[in-house]
Amino acid sequence: MFDVNEGIIQVSYIIATILFILALGGLSNQETARRGNWYGIIGMAIALVATLVGDVTQNLEFLIIALLVGGTVGIIAARRVRMTQMPELVAILHSLVGLAAVAVGYANFMGEGHYEGIELTIHDVETYIGILIGAVTFSGSVIAFGKLSGRIGGSPLILPARHLLNLVLLVVVIYYGYQFVVQSAAGGGTMPLVIMTVVSLLFGIHMVMAIGGADMPVVVSMLNSYSGWAASAIGFMLGNDLLIVTGALVGSSGAILSYIMCRAMNRKFLAVIAGGFGTGGGTVAAGSGEDQGEVVPISAEETADLLTSAKEVMIIPGYGMAVAQAQHIVNEITQALRAKKVNVRFGIHPVAGRMPGHMNVLLAEAKVPYDIVFEMDEINDDFPDVDVSVVIGANDIVNPSALEEPDGPIGGMPVLECWKGKTSIVLKRSMATGYAGVQNPLFFKENTRMLFGDAKDTLEAVYKAL
Ligand code: TAP
Repeated sequence: MFDVNEGIIQVSYIIATILFILALGGLSNQETARRGNWYGIIGMAIALVATLVGDVTQNLEFLIIALLVGGTVGIIAARRVRMTQMPELVAILHSLVGLAAVAVGYANFMGEGHYEGIELTIHDVETYIGILIGAVTFSGSVIAFGKLSGRIGGSPLILPARHLLNLVLLVVVIYYGYQFVVQSAAGGGTMPLVIMTVVSLLFGIHMVMAIGGADMPVVVSMLNSYSGWAASAIGFMLGNDLLIVTGALVGSSGAILSYIMCRAMNRKFLAVIAGGFGTGGGTVAAGSGEDQGEVVPISAEETADLLTSAKEVMIIPGYGMAVAQAQHIVNEITQALRAKKVNVRFGIHPVAGRMPGHMNVLLAEAKVPYDIVFEMDEINDDFPDVDVSVVIGANDIVNPSALEEPDGPIGGMPVLECWKGKTSIVLKRSMATGYAGVQNPLFFKENTRMLFGDAKDTLEAVYKAL
């Protein structure tokens, strides 16, 4: 529609790419995360404007309407979503990237009349791979959304001979890929493309259904990576360099994050993808069948006494702190204890909560100083010197059976070893299990006290007593 210099658009794309890289760099640290977000927002705005002005030549009005509707839905969804629902939102957004790749792939296939020879073959392969990744991302993300939001059960669905089934699906996809390229050269190809799309959708469903609750974080970041590759594939199809680079950034950072999370949970990436681990979670502890003994409850007043007489306090937040929205009162208590010259630190497990960085975001929101918030690896050796560990709504991440039962459901996952300190106080509402659905022997240890109730209520009572 506008006659805009191609050079200006390319420069805008390069600036947007640089801003996306700066955004990723900024997000790697809490103190620069806000700035990183701004880089991303500005980069995306530049990319949108450059595309609108430069690449779109027809039907601009439809695009603007779609942008307005999509933008409005996005703003409403982002404002309404609670922090604990963020992984679900991310999963469903990934599904849209996958769906877009499928749609662009089909549109591209239908409009490829002007290609021939080797160019047509290359274009066909791009289209085929783009639709393949898009369809797997789409159906896998929808299932991940269903599992994370509790609409689908968390237990892994293990079909008989499931690895063989996956292998057969792969062979079918390769065979129809060949058929598609051959038939497309003769002016056809719709049938193999449709069959592959259906097979890929089924594969996405099967892949994520087979993965148990405890591995879901890895799945979400893996789908994040897939959505990046899907965007990259769209970039190849449309000849858009910015999409190729941005997709590759998302694809590789998602893959790196999956790897880091696998390491944090001591899981092998391939074992996660192969599925079959963990349960729905949140059930009443079934335990391993043995009698674990009695737990020792403690009152808010006694907790306050223990805290004031301590020198070293370690706070270990988990998913329950997010549910109770207890981060603000946690900060109040921290300030009160620091005023009494108690050294308070926070120990953050890499998969505490329900998404990477979940606890850091909440603590930053409550204005807990960054310099007293530590990663697990930085403080795990310090527990023998800790007087009181306060475990706030955390469960799996402080479960000693991860170390004591290597073959158990969370065997081998590194955990915060708070039981090595003098006293651990665990705040939770009941004896229910955590996400992985396994009993926690920490609760029954001699030096553990249980402070039952909603974490916000009990902490408010502790604060009063302080
Ligand atoms: P969980 O093991 O899920 O334990 C949370 C505990 O909080 C529960 O035992 C629950 O016990 C308690 N709780 C819930 N609401 C509460 C409230 N209002 N007040 C007080 N307590 C409350 O959490 P975690 O220790 O943070 O471990 C995280 C788990 O989630 C890991 O298994 C991890 O693999 C998985 N996961 C992590 C992610 C990422 S990336 N972080 C994503 C998905 C899954 P009650 O019901 O008895 O209160």
